[in-house]
Amino acid sequence: MVVTGGVGQLGRQFCLSLVKRGAKVAVFDLQANEQRVAERFGGMPTENNMLFLPVDVTLRDSIENGLRRINSVWGVPHALINNAALDSPPNSPSEENGPFENYPESSWDKVMDVNLKGVFLCCQVVGGQLAASAGGSIINICSIYGIVSPDQRIYDYRRTDNQFFFKPVAYSASKSGLLNLTRYLATYWAGKKVRVNTLTFGGVFNNQDKEFLEGYCARVPLGRMAREDEYNGAIIFLVSDASSYMTGSNMIIDGGWTAW
Ligand SMILES: NC(=O)c1ccc[n+]([C@@H]2O[C@H](COP(=O)([O-])OP(=O)(O)OC[C@H]3O[C@@H](n4cnc5c(N)ncnc54)[C@H](O)[C@@H]3O)[C@@H](O)[C@H]2O)c1
Repeated sequence: MVVTGGVGQLGRQFCLSLVKRGAKVAVFDLQANEQRVAERFGGMPTENNMLFLPVDVTLRDSIENGLRRINSVWGVPHALINNAALDSPPNSPSEENGPFENYPESSWDKVMDVNLKGVFLCCQVVGGQLAASAGGSIINICSIYGIVSPDQRIYDYRRTDNQFFFKPVAYSASKSGLLNLTRYLATYWAGKKVRVNTLTFGGVFNNQDKEFLEGYCARVPLGRMAREDEYNGAIIFLVSDASSYMTGSNMIIDGGWTAW
């Protein structure tokens, strides 16, 4: 199985829970270097069940090199989890979180390149190999901000002393693009036994500041952010035969954010 962005907060969780169930997992991540992997995965045994490959998902050559390595060690993969993405962290440069009218074109390009084109390229290269072999499962990771607009009111507390703060547009636009890339590929590859689904998440607790947590949690019917292990079950479901009749769908796990 291939997990892009597997060194990150959620990607690490997906890798560990897949390995725990006997899968072999190859990570495509810009940060797949020895030091970072040791920090994130500690003394976990690798080689037999994990490969860390410093792949840039925005570069077709890089993805092809990563896939060649997997093929030579384990053969053809059975699943692809497109999880790598760029978001705009709260401490981004001010123009990133400023008014929409001035949102930098370069930021738009950078986010689109990873979040949408990166998924497109991984589907072409890795998904193409699944389709040419025994088939498999592709999961594209989306966000509630790809389904509905960010609720800019929860960032009100950042707008003091004439400072602007808006959750920027590119992340939302890139994530919503995944929904129809998923549907397109689900129908295109249906005859090749490649199932393609979107998995949409709400926000995950990561020591965000108190004001953000208050605003966010008040907006969630379940009253809290997700724990980072609460999406693992859905990953296992979607890569396994338990979801054998599911393709072209979007599974939403968001504590109820999009329910009202
Ligand atoms: N964390 C959340 O609250 C949340 C909420 C909803 C959706 N999501 C989605 O879940 C996924 C994982 O989020 P996360 O919070 O774990 O992110 P993260 O920032 O912790 O990890 C992302 C990983 O992607 C890697 N990456 C970035 N650009 C890359 C590139 N060009 N090539 C290869 N790897 C690259 C980074 O090195 C990093 O390890 C993302 O798709 C995100 O949009 C996250």
